[in-house]
Parts: sequence; C-alpha cells; structure tokens
Amino acid sequence: MAQVTVIGSINYDILSTMERAPKAGETVNGQTVQLMPGGKGLNQAVAARQQGVPVSFVGKVGQDMFGDRILSFFDEKGIDATHVGRSPDEATGSALILVDATAENRIVVIPAANRQIVPADADGLAISPGDILVSQFEVPRTTIAALFAKGRAAGARTLLNAAPALDDAPDSLWADTDILVVNETELGHFAGVELSGDAAVADIATAARRLLRRPDQVIIATLGVRGALAVTLDSETLVPGRKVLAVDTTGAGDCFVGSLSARLAAGDDLATAMRYANVAASIACTRVGTGTAMPVAEEVQAAL
Ligand code: RIB
Ligand code: NA
Repeated sequence: MAQVTVIGSINYDILSTMERAPKAGETVNGQTVQLMPGGKGLNQAVAARQQGVPVSFVGKVGQDMFGDRILSFFDEKGIDATHVGRSPDEATGSALILVDATAENRIVVIPAANRQIVPADADGLAISPGDILVSQFEVPRTTIAALFAKGRAAGARTLLNAAPALDDAPDSLWADTDILVVNETELGHFAGVELSGDAAVADIATAARRLLRRPDQVIIATLGVRGALAVTLDSETLVPGRKVLAVDTTGAGDCFVGSLSARLAAGDDLATAMRYANVAASIACTRVGTGTAMPVAEEVQAAL
C-alpha cells in the first residue's frame, strides 16, 4: 500500500480553554488545561495514520522529557519515527494555545528543534511511486524543497500545507508541489489579494489560480463550514462542509490535510478524498485538543 510521509513539525502543546482570552495586562481564569503532542506535522501524521494507512515521519525533537513522550506517542500510534532525530542543543518544540468560548484560538509557537530539520534527516527514507509526501511551513522551507524534489523524482505526489503564511519558500518548492492546501487567510496572503470571510467562490478561484506554477497543479482552499474548493487551471470543485457544534477548531486544518493525504494514498480521487477530509475535520472541531483529538476511520465513516 502507498504510504504517507510527513516532513513535519512536532510541538508539545499546552492548551487551555477559557470563556475569553485575556487582554494585555489582564488575568482571566481558565476552565481546563491539557498537555499533549501537537504541531502541524504531528497532527497531520496522526490524522493520516488513524485513517488506516502506513505513515512515516521526518522531524526533530529535543533530548528532553517532551521528546521522550513524543517518541512513545509515535510508537503507540504506529507511526514510523525512524527519521525523527534528536537535537543535541535545542529543546522539543512547544506551543501555548488559548481557546475561547467561540472555539477560536490564539497560539504562540516556540519552534526550537523543528528549526534544525535538514534534508539529511531523511537519508535512507524509502519513497515509492504513489506515496504522498506532506509538509507545512513550521519546518525549514529549504528542507521541504529538497525533499519534495527527491520525492517527485521517486514518483511520489507532494502535498504542501502552506501554513503559517511565510514568504521565504524557494521558487522550486512551489513548482514541486502537486497539491497546495491553504485556508482563506493564507490564500489571500500568497495571492496578494484581500479576501473577506464570505468571499464569492469565483473570487476565491481567481485568487487560487494566481498560485499555479504548473498547469497540472491543484490548489485547495479550505473554507471552514463552507467546505473546501479545489481549483485547477480549468476546473473548480466545491465540496460542502459539515456543520457541527465546534468547541475547538485547533488542528482541524491539520486533520483535513492528514485525512486527505491518507485517502489519496489509499487511491481515492481528489473530490472523494476532500469530502472525506471535510467530515474528518468537522469531527476534530467538536473535541478539545490537537494530536489527541483526531478521529479514527470508523468515526469518519459513520458521519459520511
Ligand atoms: O495547527 C495546530 C498546531 O499549530 C498546534 O498543534 C500547535 O502546535 C501549532 O503548531
Ligand atoms: Na480540536
């Protein structure tokens, strides 16, 4: 079976829920606090793995307690962490996450060891035709570029989640991306246009086409409850969202990316995989948490 390989970030998340987030100089009481494995890369890997496909990870943690905990977590989840290295001098990445009663979050990320992921970390990694190579912008962009080039040469498909929106990616990375996944904010940023939260599908598609570097690329814009829009040079496919009572949207985008990758590796066509990933992401929104809040295949199937 084709596999998903995530070149990705790993953070230890400290997530707290509260009625509303404090303003500068203010202290508020929170309701809950949770420590758990997170980071966009790890969340995507867990989401993919829980849909039943083999997943391997290229990343870096520190020589600390959080790093130990992450490695046993990968083990419990059945994610191949052969290519997860340990930095000699940086701590495991971490993130402070505040989630308010409207399910919105505020996040501070301390990248630490994630900054040290280099192409050589993937030396010896097996990539086969049909595999899906996944990454996000929480790891060095030059490393993603080098590994995407290698992956495409080996016949894999590359899926880039350009989040958060950073401007230092080499041109070759955009060109070596087969499927680009962005939310509306990231799309507006990279396309250099102002997109309001309720922008018309036609305007979103026009913005997405500005990101095409090759005629055969696909740009997927995730639109929250409105669903997701896949745009190619000459087609647009809107897959509707699923309305749920959201308590925490943190990691929902990662759930979409991971589940989409898993279904593509399993052989689904793009629209089918997007429909599946939308439902998976909607379930993630109903749970507080990140790496530990991803749905399993049975849950997604039941909600499809
Ligand atoms: O996308 C959610 C993730 O962003 C969190 O798990 C946090 O670690 C940050 O990287
Ligand atoms: Na969540």
